[in-house]
Amino acid sequence: MAPRPVYFDCDTGIDDALALVYLMASPEIELAGIGTVSGNIDAKQAAVNTLDLLAMGGKTEVPVAVGAMDPLTHSFSGGVPHIHGHNGVGDVELPHTDRKPETESAADMLVRLAHEHPGELDVIAIGPLTNLAIALKQDPSIAELVHEVYIMGGAALVPGNLSAVGEANIWNDPEAAQAVVEAPWQVVLVPLDVTLENAFEESDREALAASDSALNRALADILNLYFDFYVGEYGRRMCALHDPLAAAIAVGQITATRAPNVPVVVDDTQGPGRGQTICDLRGQRTGTHDVEGAHVRVVLDTDQQLGPVLLARLLDYAG
Ligand code: BDR
Ligand code: CA
Repeated sequence: MAPRPVYFDCDTGIDDALALVYLMASPEIELAGIGTVSGNIDAKQAAVNTLDLLAMGGKTEVPVAVGAMDPLTHSFSGGVPHIHGHNGVGDVELPHTDRKPETESAADMLVRLAHEHPGELDVIAIGPLTNLAIALKQDPSIAELVHEVYIMGGAALVPGNLSAVGEANIWNDPEAAQAVVEAPWQVVLVPLDVTLENAFEESDREALAASDSALNRALADILNLYFDFYVGEYGRRMCALHDPLAAAIAVGQITATRAPNVPVVVDDTQGPGRGQTICDLRGQRTGTHDVEGAHVRVVLDTDQQLGPVLLARLLDYAG
């Protein structure tokens, strides 16, 4: 089967880097274009990181476009150096490529790719949703052209990670997130409910560190800082697999076993609920079912743990 075309939107980012290399290693999909956005780091540095990782993996044909530097209604607050490092990749110096980003914006790239692959393009978005919202505003018809939109974001029935109820990608640009869940396309929301249940362990990191591939060894280095951060969360060196889980569900290696289509709204008020993904899961206790007219599938369970699947695919990748 021909690989499915994907537009990938990221704020690279340590778990973004894992997701990116996983997608580079996945024959089921073809990275038709990558847009970057400010989140873990600003959009320009995210593009540098993305280009460097692509070059290390020999994927120099994949175009990268810099996207929104600021969220829709406010200025970018500067990222999270204590989690992702000052450069977004755990303060590791990757070998730098000479490749530059495209001159088109990430939103322009998404609109162009949606028209070039009508009914076929999947979107995988693992950062704040600013570029997607800008693209929808520029050309609302992309909602009919895009096949499916996979989003790492939100917290359905569990607490947030950036506020009591807000998950980072949504909390960083709630206005954009609301525009994206409101648009009439099929969204698959991969929230903290499932991403926090999937771990990469120190033994997995060590397996990458021992690999023949310089790219895998770089990932092992990059993960160090992230693993340190997670000691405060889980009591041991490991990390949750936020962005890679959304990527693996999009690729089809992981199957969502409970994922009803339900009404979802994002709180974009200025109150304590700002950034919350309010998923209407009423009436699902006696069996999962789709709500008529709803088009946001909220992933609440998956068929297997991602950690071993991710490690195997990274180790298999010749790069
Ligand atoms: C999300 O926030 C970012 O820090 C991660 O890269 C992931 O996309 C998790 O809440
Ligand atoms: Ca991310």
